[in-house]
Amino acid sequence: MQFDRLLVTGGAGFIGANFVHYWMARHPEHRVVVLDALTYAGNPANLHGVRDWPGFRFVHGNILDEVLVETLLREEALNCIVHFAAESHVDRSILGPDIFLTTNVMGTHNLLKVAKKVWLDAGMVTAHRFHHVSTDEVYGSLALADAAFTESTPYQPTSPYAASKAASDHLVRTYGHTYGLDISISNCSNNYGPLHYPEKLIPLMIVNILQGLPLPIYGQGSNVRDWLHVEDHCRGIELILERGKSGETYNIGAHGEMTNINLVGAICDAFPGRFQQQPDLARRFPRCPASQGRNPRELMKFVQDRPGHDLRYAINATKIRSALGFAPAYSFAKGIQVTIDWYLEHEAWWRALMGGEYHDWIDRQYQAPATDP
Ligand code: NAD
Ligand code: TYD
Repeated sequence: MQFDRLLVTGGAGFIGANFVHYWMARHPEHRVVVLDALTYAGNPANLHGVRDWPGFRFVHGNILDEVLVETLLREEALNCIVHFAAESHVDRSILGPDIFLTTNVMGTHNLLKVAKKVWLDAGMVTAHRFHHVSTDEVYGSLALADAAFTESTPYQPTSPYAASKAASDHLVRTYGHTYGLDISISNCSNNYGPLHYPEKLIPLMIVNILQGLPLPIYGQGSNVRDWLHVEDHCRGIELILERGKSGETYNIGAHGEMTNINLVGAICDAFPGRFQQQPDLARRFPRCPASQGRNPRELMKFVQDRPGHDLRYAINATKIRSALGFAPAYSFAKGIQVTIDWYLEHEAWWRALMGGEYHDWIDRQYQAPATDP
């Protein structure tokens, strides 16, 4: 692996932190510097276990801070940026797009500008890589019968979040094309797994089931997402850094398409059996319907649809599979079980997030009027 001194932006968030754990376990001799602004989505507890590693450093700071980023690249002689930092929640982008443009567009541009300055203009390192972590949402929405997104699907973002990620992808490619910066991009489908902030669908459903709270399903629940376990995402990024070509884009996905209603139903169905086998769960989560032998499906509540809600995302991962040998290790059936287990075993982690900001946000979601299923 030629890239052995990494700046990981957004490394205290869901995917970034999973990536840091994955990377430090597999490359313990590497230097990993996390730069994270610790927004509502960033959580120092996500880095528990790696903080004491000699190769690890955490820096609390903003990707928009040009001086800080330049200092880090120079003093740590970093040769790779793995860029996760972003505002990442579509619903928040609909209510307040500004921060999405600031962080996702201007923040990414700031990193590119500094990388060019240090790596190219100052000639600090010969082999370098700017890897940009992006999303399949830049491609827009598919009809049910459409073929899945490939790397050449035209960009047609439909939410402020997706538009900001699309803009950042274009900027990254521009720095490769115009200035010769060594870049790569991955566009990934919906992730799930440990450390997922419970505002997104899967962790929200799990923690609400445990607390006996409503499970808000937008519209009819017929929208389709393509689910990928976060560890498989990390595996894909590792392959791109190891063997991916400079300037290339790779889609990452695991053929995990499901309607939201089927997904939430499958999560609900996983609880009664667990509660039967582990009697302490009923004591710990007395409000969960499974504690009285009932299926948590009774908590499902159809609510007003998300404005401009994309019908379907689906990733064609042929390129990364054939060019780099990518193979996901998790089926959805296995991944969702280990994810539910993780939330059961880490109650303190998710309960600690449920302060004022979280409740303000969730309360707003529950104020959405119910709709007929
Ligand atoms: P997240 O919201 O859980 O974490 C984002 C992290 O970035 C947080 O730790 C936050 O503190 C940090 N951050 C935000 N603004 C910052 C700034 N200005 N400076 C420094 N740090 C800042 O997001 P995630 O789900 O882990 O997503 C990570 C990346 O992966 C994002 O770029 C996202 O677009 C992309 N992605 C996510 C998914 C998914 O399903 N979650 C799918 C495909 C792509
Ligand atoms: P989300 O996890 O926000 O990811 P994204 O919007 O980036 O795909 O949502 C996944 C799907 O679940 C999406 O179709 C919206 C839907 N959804 C609900 O039905 N209820 C919810 O409470 C949330 C958060 C999402």
